[in-house]
Amino acid sequence: MTRKLYIRTYGCQMNVYDSARMADVLAPLGYAQTEALDDADMVLLNTCHIREKAAEKLFSDLGRLRRLKNDKAKDGGQLVIGVAGCVAQAEGEEILARAPFVDLVLGPQTYHRLPEMIAKLARGRGPVLDTEFPPEPKFDYLPESTAPQAVSAFLSVQEGCDKFCTFCVVPYTRGAEFSRPAAAVIAEAERLIAAGARELTLLGQNVNAYHGAGVDGGIWGLGRLIRALADLPGLERLRYTTSHPRDMSDELIEAHRDVEKLMPFLHLPVQSGSDAMLAAMNRGHTIDEYRRIIDRLRAARPDIALSSDFIIGFPGESDEDFAASLALVREIGFAQAFSFKYSKRPGTPGAALRAQIAESLKSERLQILQELVEAQQRRFNDACAGRVLPVLFEKPGRHPGQLVGRSPYLQWVHAQAPSRCQGAVLPVRITGAGPNSLAGEIETLAEVVA
Ligand code: SAH
Ligand code: SF4
Ligand code: F3S
Repeated sequence: MTRKLYIRTYGCQMNVYDSARMADVLAPLGYAQTEALDDADMVLLNTCHIREKAAEKLFSDLGRLRRLKNDKAKDGGQLVIGVAGCVAQAEGEEILARAPFVDLVLGPQTYHRLPEMIAKLARGRGPVLDTEFPPEPKFDYLPESTAPQAVSAFLSVQEGCDKFCTFCVVPYTRGAEFSRPAAAVIAEAERLIAAGARELTLLGQNVNAYHGAGVDGGIWGLGRLIRALADLPGLERLRYTTSHPRDMSDELIEAHRDVEKLMPFLHLPVQSGSDAMLAAMNRGHTIDEYRRIIDRLRAARPDIALSSDFIIGFPGESDEDFAASLALVREIGFAQAFSFKYSKRPGTPGAALRAQIAESLKSERLQILQELVEAQQRRFNDACAGRVLPVLFEKPGRHPGQLVGRSPYLQWVHAQAPSRCQGAVLPVRITGAGPNSLAGEIETLAEVVA
């Protein structure tokens, strides 16, 4: 008998990866994934706690799910509601107190135990909560995925964080830093490639802090791991995210110089352009050190496109501090950047600081920074017009006969192309640039089609 599983994913790419693995864990129990909420026998909300807004979404979603559960019960049916991810980790008991109709609460490090949790639930003694940080990593217990893979797939290689930036909940929700052994990563990469992946994005909350057991008995950094993965036949491209400036090693920078499959794009969050703010945030580096990392990266790979995150209005941020962030954006010339208003998170040191910034001022500053970033992104995209870029086609586009794929610099590119080009890297002449994507024509389409 098959049962239907609906998973809704919030937050970062690690949650996207975890959601896919939860589906893998539940597949042997007869759960098949559905896109239709109304058909579901089990709903899992894989939640994010990073900002208040993200966490609040959970409770509005749960309100709707309660009604669905009640409707099903009236018809003699059943709906199991599970809350997974970072809000579950941070607020486990509170979720059950506020939403007693929730059946399962599980953290990011316990979802391999879903089968036991479901068995316990079936005994009818009420909801089951498991938000431990087990000493044995979940990866040792997860089944091998048998699902077909998208052209571009995620692969978690590192988890957790020991850095404790003063604004951030991740060290509390994900736990201590942990690196998977290289052999396990390579084996999973081989399976993903065999199942159709052509690009792998290596994931970790601090992916470049990776220091896993190597296949040669030593400890491997991310640069060494990337070199090993690049040798896998059938793999076209490698990326990794998210990196911390403190862990940008020479070995990793050299991989950008030497490894052709490693794409010239790096998301390297700086958070602020002000040394005073970086110190208050406990980021552990200065702006000058960040600058020098960028210089070394550009020396290794001159065309590397850079991306960052910025937090606007961290406690104590003065006009000068904010101006320094704007100046840094201008100086580095990011190809893209994400920016967020500082959000007070329970239990983090930042939340207790007295010099909180008014929401209105945060909004004002955010808008100024975002306008600057958008203009820069626009210039970066415009400068691609007329160039020929290799594009890895991932999926059908919005219009008939169209495919979309990524440039090396992570831009979406649309082009007319037959569906068999999906999964191929083809040279595309860029004919138009928008704020968020490029349009182009495949240079060699005649040969491809012939
Ligand atoms: N490990 C990554 C970031 C992970 S969280 C790093 O160290 O850079 C993703 C982004 O969310 C962060 O880069 C930060 O910009 C943002 N963020 C984290 N906590 C936040 C908070 N309390 N308020 C606003 N933005 C936050
Ligand atoms: Fe959060 Fe800082 Fe760790 Fe990144 S490095 S996950 S921002 S604590
Ligand atoms: Fe959110 Fe947890 Fe990722 S808090 S950003 S889902 S690590």
